[in-house]
Amino acid sequence: MTTRPLIISPSILACDFARFGEEVRAVDTAGADWIHIDVMDGHFVPNISFGPDVVKAVRAFSAKPFDVHLMIAPADPYLEAFAKAGADHITVHAEAGPHLHRSLQAIRALGKQAGVAINPATPASAVENVLDLIDVVIVMTVNPGFGGQAFIPSVMDKVAQLSALIGERPIHIEIDGGVTRDTAAACIKAGANALVAGSAVFKGGADAYAGNIDAIRSAALRARGELV
Ligand code: DX5
Ligand code: ZN
Repeated sequence: MTTRPLIISPSILACDFARFGEEVRAVDTAGADWIHIDVMDGHFVPNISFGPDVVKAVRAFSAKPFDVHLMIAPADPYLEAFAKAGADHITVHAEAGPHLHRSLQAIRALGKQAGVAINPATPASAVENVLDLIDVVIVMTVNPGFGGQAFIPSVMDKVAQLSALIGERPIHIEIDGGVTRDTAAACIKAGANALVAGSAVFKGGADAYAGNIDAIRSAALRARGELV
């Protein structure tokens, strides 16, 4: 859907955890459109990352939208804390709780953009009933929990279904997991406009970040027909 803006959202899950603030500033300067923040609870996913205090601490290091991806269950008790910490988008997993509408309504009531994430095994129909309540859908191309996993190409069929389902609604279609300069084109061709990338951005040290982001952006722009 070339009418939606192309967004590159580096995931700080792959950054140097001893230097969160500087790493956020470095990818901002290197050309990130959003900053993707992966929150994991050791319950919904088999890993623990960080919580709202880290979001709050890094807020001053970038004015770009904070794209907060909650891989936690339950999510509802923590939505306000992430909103107050400086999240701009708050995305919950469709699989994380029985009351998806309630979570999305709560995010919007906090004045934030609301998102739904779906795991590789979850069908596109999981978001069908909440299209009026979301600004973003995150389609996982790995099973959430860790960075650096291999992209699951069969998920692209679902992205195309979602793209048809969403139509002209102003909803970002964001791909998360295993996005690189090599997998970006397939995501765009299937209908995505936003790409999360962790290890493909945070490799080679801070001097490499701009080139890493550019490589993903160029591949995506070529797939959109906006770069020859
Ligand atoms: C996976 C996270 C992703 C992850 C992506 O559970 O939601 O955002 O950081 O990392 P890469 O780009 O390394 O697959
Ligand atoms: Zn994520």
